[in-house]
Amino acid sequence: MKTVLISEFGGADVLRIGEADKPIPREGQVLVEVAASSVNGPDLVQREGRYPPPKGDSEILGLEVAGTIAELGPGVSGWVVGDRVMSLVGGGGYAEYAAAYADHLIPIPDSMSFEEAACVCETYITAYLNVFMLGGLTDGGSALLHGGGGGVNTAAIHLCKALTPSAKVIVTASPGKVERVEALGADLVIDYKAQDFAEEVQRFTDKRGVQLILDHIGAAYLASNMKSLAVYGKLVIIGVTSGIKSELNLALMMVKRQQIIGSVLRPRPVPEKAAIIAEFTEQVLPLLAERRIVPLIYKVYPLEEVTQAHRDMESGAHFGKIVLTV
Ligand SMILES: NC(=O)c1ccc[n+]([C@@H]2O[C@H](COP(=O)([O-])OP(=O)(O)OC[C@H]3O[C@@H](n4cnc5c(N)ncnc54)[C@H](OP(=O)(O)O)[C@@H]3O)[C@@H](O)[C@H]2O)c1
Repeated sequence: MKTVLISEFGGADVLRIGEADKPIPREGQVLVEVAASSVNGPDLVQREGRYPPPKGDSEILGLEVAGTIAELGPGVSGWVVGDRVMSLVGGGGYAEYAAAYADHLIPIPDSMSFEEAACVCETYITAYLNVFMLGGLTDGGSALLHGGGGGVNTAAIHLCKALTPSAKVIVTASPGKVERVEALGADLVIDYKAQDFAEEVQRFTDKRGVQLILDHIGAAYLASNMKSLAVYGKLVIIGVTSGIKSELNLALMMVKRQQIIGSVLRPRPVPEKAAIIAEFTEQVLPLLAERRIVPLIYKVYPLEEVTQAHRDMESGAHFGKIVLTV
């Protein structure tokens, strides 16, 4: 089958189109004929050699797929060949075929294109897990999301607005993205290059701080994040792009009864991911089917232009998701 190969770990130009064996679905898996996949932040880190796939998962890049079931593996029931599905995969999305666990499949509503469906699993499930299941955002609450134009955070804004419409959503963004993030419905957008976000959060919340922070910046934002967090607040860390070590005032954290939660989706065991996906499917799929939530697509590239797709992502110019069609 056609796939994307990495000649050696490095920049976007190490990506090339090549051939690999078609995966054979194992117990509980199906083979998906991939129509579309999408580029996610972790793909860039894997390409650089700093984020290997979990043991047993494909070495090929790509954390999610949308397509049709081509074959059922042993022990699979409830699905038939030809079903339109989207799925998280531990790896292998940038290819003509990918193996996915039947328990991780989500049916694609008739109202959704494959391109849109390829933008759902990694970003919306990450956002749902961390903002709602772990972060506990509730209606009437408040959240600070860092990096409003990115895949995970455009999804997080959509979900906050749809599931907790009266929660206040504060978002940091680079200056060129502020207006577009406002248009998504953020209650306050902070230009993180020109403004001190902790001061702005204090001002906006009358010094109470926010109930939840979703952060992928890590070390450089830890102190300001803790300043921005309310009593009983939760800081959920899903990335460490600025670094991994920073100082923390444990006494303040203790007195304010705050929690810092580290979270990754990809290495979780198959049944744990299945439980998250089941809840996500129940709560969010109807909103996608009714088009009350529509994934934000920045650009669509054929798989052959994967190098350009990665360069776009690295430039930071994108707003929403970059899709690869197969
Ligand atoms: N733990 C997990 O389960 C999990 C799952 C998926 C993704 N992730 C991580 O989540 C992060 C986002 O992934 P993604 O796919 O959404 O990537 P993305 O589309 O590139 O989004 C990242 C966003 O952050 C913004 N940003 C960069 N520096 C910033 C800063 N100092 N302050 C505020 N915003 C900043 C970027 O835009 P500007 O440069 O214009 O500001 C961009 O909009 C990545 O680090 C990824 O590895 C974690």
